[in-house]
Amino acid sequence: MGKKKHQVAVIGAGPAGLYGARALAENDVEVTLFNRDIKPGGLAEYGIYPDKIAMKKGLRKQFQKVLETPNLRYFGNVAIGEDADITLNDLREFGFQALFVTTGAQGTKWLGLPGEDQTGVYHAKDVVYYYNHLPPFSQHEFRFGSHCIVVGAGNVMIDIARYLIREAKVDEVTALVRRGPAEIKFTKKELGYVAANLDLDALDAEIARCADNMIEVGQNPQAAKETILSALPKAASKVSETKFRFQFLASPQQMLGDNQQMLSSVEVEDNKLILNEAGVTKPRGSGKTRILEAETIIFAIGDKVDENFGLPINKWGEFVKNESPRHPHNDKSFEAYDPASKSIIEDVFFAGWARKASEGLVGYARRSGISGSKAILDYLSELEGGESTASALDKKLASLSKPIVTNEAALHLYQVEKEEAEKRGTEEFKFNKNEDMLAAIGL
Ligand SMILES: Cc1cc2nc3c(=O)[nH]c(=O)nc-3n(C[C@H](O)[C@H](O)[C@H](O)COP(=O)(O)OP(=O)(O)OC[C@H]3O[C@@H](n4cnc5c(N)ncnc54)[C@H](O)[C@@H]3O)c2cc1C
Ligand SMILES: NC(=O)c1ccc[n+]([C@@H]2O[C@H](COP(=O)([O-])OP(=O)(O)OC[C@H]3O[C@@H](n4cnc5c(N)ncnc54)[C@H](OP(=O)(O)O)[C@@H]3O)[C@@H](O)[C@H]2O)c1
Repeated sequence: MGKKKHQVAVIGAGPAGLYGARALAENDVEVTLFNRDIKPGGLAEYGIYPDKIAMKKGLRKQFQKVLETPNLRYFGNVAIGEDADITLNDLREFGFQALFVTTGAQGTKWLGLPGEDQTGVYHAKDVVYYYNHLPPFSQHEFRFGSHCIVVGAGNVMIDIARYLIREAKVDEVTALVRRGPAEIKFTKKELGYVAANLDLDALDAEIARCADNMIEVGQNPQAAKETILSALPKAASKVSETKFRFQFLASPQQMLGDNQQMLSSVEVEDNKLILNEAGVTKPRGSGKTRILEAETIIFAIGDKVDENFGLPINKWGEFVKNESPRHPHNDKSFEAYDPASKSIIEDVFFAGWARKASEGLVGYARRSGISGSKAILDYLSELEGGESTASALDKKLASLSKPIVTNEAALHLYQVEKEEAEKRGTEEFKFNKNEDMLAAIGL
């Protein structure tokens, strides 16, 4: 009889989980990869802007290869967690020796402001999942009014603005930014998709409004303006008359609506930039408020992890990590920690956006998955291999009475969607509903 292999459950098949699972399987570990969604890919499939076809197709090809890796079983349509299909303790009982949590950042970072429950108030992730056809978000109704505010100054803000400007073609999109023009986080390339719609007079006026405060904290208003304008020469051509504006140094305070709970305006407070002791600029509320007309406000301020997953989280909405890791990689900890009992959760490891929410690109998640897998291999090197988890797990999966998507079924789905796109003469095709996806692969 051959040597018993180590048994690892990888939870979440985004880039971190897929590349991490492959790295483990290639090191002779028996890997079971669970995914909430039917299709693998996470935000690479359901976050990256739909027009980035070449990038998405390239990633899908790589993900298909991962599904063909020996020693790697994929189970899509299976959620893991406290109130989910299978709990972490179930996995331990089935014999998994390490649990690799690569679930991304599925929680929503609401600010707890009055009026957040009104129609027209959304979080970026939900909108992104909607226009990228992830069920059930693909079925939700969104109210994109004529005046839309997007809070934040990262690339997700730009993606949402891009959708509102180039697809929904609303009248006005305002990026509401708590700090100033020198603290933008989006890239020139991404701004290029919406730069042709910039209201340049409004940008001039806005930078002039912020200039004194910027100079006070040692910033150069003209340089900040030039950075933004540098996206213009290679900007994508205009497809709508949407006016795209910035409101810097302002934070939302409350969402105001009519008596049907429909958003009609947002009260914002002007901020002043201050330099803290570490020399970092921080926004401080000035107490002065004003009203911006808006039927839609979308928060693109980053995400947090799922607080109901069943692992301790900290006040920043992150899973708590072991600060003194047993198996660090690149000086980072991939290990879970329980602050209540002040002890390491021995068998749980994190990578990707589950390790640090909303940090970095697909390449970062891939590297994180691979580094996390090395931490797990170090941990397993001190343990004997384990009995196969297959029979206990298969029994549990059968008891869930729902279709389970295996490696073969997921590969089949990729093929069906590819053929459907060819039939329709479109660059790609995605099913909008889980039922349709499952029916198309005979489940
Ligand atoms: C709007 C947006 C646009 C982006 N555009 C780009 C871009 O153009 N280029 C680029 O390089 N990067 C882009 N990124 C960043 C990139 O998508 C992320 O870096 C990467 O996807 C993070 O990978 P991850 O595996 O950690 O998490 P995710 O991609 O979020 O994957 C998490 C996976 O876990 C699964 N899961 C969640 N909870 C459970 C559970 N309880 N049980 C089982 N499975 C679960 C999910 O179904 C999902 O498949 C973008 C991000 C966003 C938000
Ligand atoms: N095309 C692409 O390549 C692409 C597309 C989308 C996303 N991504 C990547 O995905 C990652 C996440 O992107 P992201 O845009 O979500 O994050 P991000 O780049 O960190 O930007 C978040 C923005 O939200 C603001 N913010 C945070 N908390 C806030 C609060 N409480 N109130 C008001 N504003 C607040 C931040 O302001 P402060 O600076 O003041 O904190 C910042 O402007 C990034 O690595 C990004 O590059 C890439």
